[in-house]
Amino acid sequence: MMSLERSYDYPAKNAVRRAWMQFLPLSFQSSSCVRGLYLPGNANLELSGYLEKGVQAHQLIGAEHNEDVYERIKAQASGIHLVQGSIQEAVRQIKERGWNPLTFANFDFDGSCHTFVEDVLSVFSVFPLNDPAYLSVSSYSARDDEAVLQGIVNTSKFYSTFESTAQFWASYGRMMDRNTALRRQLPGSSVEDHVHLSRELGFLWWMALVMGSIDRCENAVWTVNESYTQSFNDILQDITRRAMERIGDQGEFRVLSDPRLGQQLRNRVCSLWPDRFEHYVWFTAQRQPMRTWMIRIQPLGQEEPRPTHFEVVEQLWNMATRTPLVYLNHSGTKISFD
Ligand SMILES: C[S@@+](CC[C@H](N)C(=O)[O-])C[C@H]1O[C@@H](n2cnc3c(N)ncnc32)[C@H](O)[C@@H]1O
Repeated sequence: MMSLERSYDYPAKNAVRRAWMQFLPLSFQSSSCVRGLYLPGNANLELSGYLEKGVQAHQLIGAEHNEDVYERIKAQASGIHLVQGSIQEAVRQIKERGWNPLTFANFDFDGSCHTFVEDVLSVFSVFPLNDPAYLSVSSYSARDDEAVLQGIVNTSKFYSTFESTAQFWASYGRMMDRNTALRRQLPGSSVEDHVHLSRELGFLWWMALVMGSIDRCENAVWTVNESYTQSFNDILQDITRRAMERIGDQGEFRVLSDPRLGQQLRNRVCSLWPDRFEHYVWFTAQRQPMRTWMIRIQPLGQEEPRPTHFEVVEQLWNMATRTPLVYLNHSGTKISFD
């Protein structure tokens, strides 16, 4: 049966795992309070990296939703708490058991992270109130039929946020240039420049939205302010409808603006601040294109000056458009596009 299972032990994947370990602190200050959530997969290859940082197996939670591999993973859980089910189920158990909040979470999906947006966002409710949280998400990034539409919608959300269109296009151009430079390095690659629009900006938008929608509750936990997130529904639906009307049969790429979006973001004060960002591109052993984003998120105290949601979106955008794009090639070598 082993031969039918995926292997996660090959140079590019090992290099992403190493990059994540380097993104995390060398060791944690109050290591007994640390808790991490990840997808161990059939070989639990991340575990040794966490143990080297002084985190103990019982401080780690693994989630596995595939019944076919669950028993095998359980057999080599090596003392981590393994949840059979979704990431949201793991989050539910953390809350129910009153466990320490999550210092880090690594979701290296085999497919698209867009299938699991709710899961990724659910971990924000169990991030620490006073210490930074580290999040890594890996996602399949091939172009599909929806990519142009998603690209228009997601680009338009950021475009609508900023007042200066010149500034927007300058940073957007920087991002596009890096993707184009990377593509030239990939012989015979079918990955198109549009890809990052739908995948990267879509992911960034969700991160930006949830980071600004999190409130501190009286009982010392984070909660998503549902009425605030819902207040975006009409605006976002309008942008999607307009994009669908414009796209026509030609798949033409047009960016739309809705000034209501930027106004709404400027009227809310936030409690989370993203302050580190890394971005990787790599291929699986089966030559599937993947993206990995790593973000560090700082909680802000009520007494500290706090940013507006607009400033949080701007910070994420600046980090995403200014941080080098790093390609981890088939032998695991890092090639950086500034
Ligand atoms: C890419 S593998 C993990 C590899 C491992 N982290 C490593 O570094 O070698 C992802 C694993 O998580 C499982 N998985 C994917 N999405 C999941 C989800 N949303 N909830 C729970 N398990 C998931 C898959 O079935 C698979 O076993």
